[in-house]
Amino acid sequence: MPSALITGATAGIGAAFARRLAADGFSLVLVARDEERLTAAAESLRLRYGVESEVLAADLATDEGLERVEARLRQGIDLLVNNAGFGHPGSFLDVSVPDELRMLKVHCEAVLRLTMAALPGMRKRNRGAVINVASVAAFFNRGTYSASKAWVVNYSESTAAELVGTRVRVMALCPGFVRTEFHERASIDASAIPGFLWLSADDVVDESMRDLALGKRVSVPDLRYKVIVGVGRLVPRGLAARVSQRLGRR
Ligand SMILES: NC(=O)c1ccc[n+]([C@@H]2O[C@H](COP(=O)([O-])OP(=O)(O)OC[C@H]3O[C@@H](n4cnc5c(N)ncnc54)[C@H](OP(=O)(O)O)[C@@H]3O)[C@@H](O)[C@H]2O)c1
Repeated sequence: MPSALITGATAGIGAAFARRLAADGFSLVLVARDEERLTAAAESLRLRYGVESEVLAADLATDEGLERVEARLRQGIDLLVNNAGFGHPGSFLDVSVPDELRMLKVHCEAVLRLTMAALPGMRKRNRGAVINVASVAAFFNRGTYSASKAWVVNYSESTAAELVGTRVRVMALCPGFVRTEFHERASIDASAIPGFLWLSADDVVDESMRDLALGKRVSVPDLRYKVIVGVGRLVPRGLAARVSQRLGRR
């Protein structure tokens, strides 16, 4: 039975990955901070799909939490989904430096360290995959959040390029707006985001799994966002930055 470790597996996109991979017959390692919620998620997956899940409570913003997840990955895993993440409200210049650093730790350091813990075993077995959840924001300029996600895309593409000729895949997943707990947790007012821009977490995960099977290095689910990213690359960066800063202020 193949195994998968998912960070941020209790809510939103991570929970959708857990459902999809359980349905596909993976045994799971579920990572997040809230142990009670992790245990409830594992139980619900057991009842619905008959899979056993390990629960690994860890705060990826701490070295101690990262070390425990690294140790689990070194025991061997077939698929790593680096998904845990969060946002801050308002202008990033108003966010405290410790909070910004916490974001870089979860979005960048955790992705780097967990990927590097998983890859040696995958390379040895010559199979396996890493999905790093970035964002469409990676292609726009919107402060530390988009900068951290741009790092995730660049890092994933670079790592995938290094692995050409092997059967180990690395892919960045770049969703647009997805209905999850993300915006509420970050106290971001999502009411101004037009309804047609919202995606479902299950659809995002299904398209990302198709893209992984196709060997893509970057997955941008849904035609709407493929167009937005394509147009974003054509307009001058200064204009794209002004538009995204305006959206980001809400
Ligand atoms: N929703 C969107 O519109 C959207 C769009 C593009 C990209 N994304 C990206 O998608 C990923 C998942 O977001 P989501 O929308 O599914 O968010 P979500 O519904 O808020 O879920 C976040 C998950 O991450 C876990 N988590 C947060 N901080 C953590 C930490 N320090 N250590 C360990 N686990 C942590 C949370 O559990 P605990 O609180 O128990 O730790 C939860 O399971 C993020 O990387 C986000 O940046 C989201």
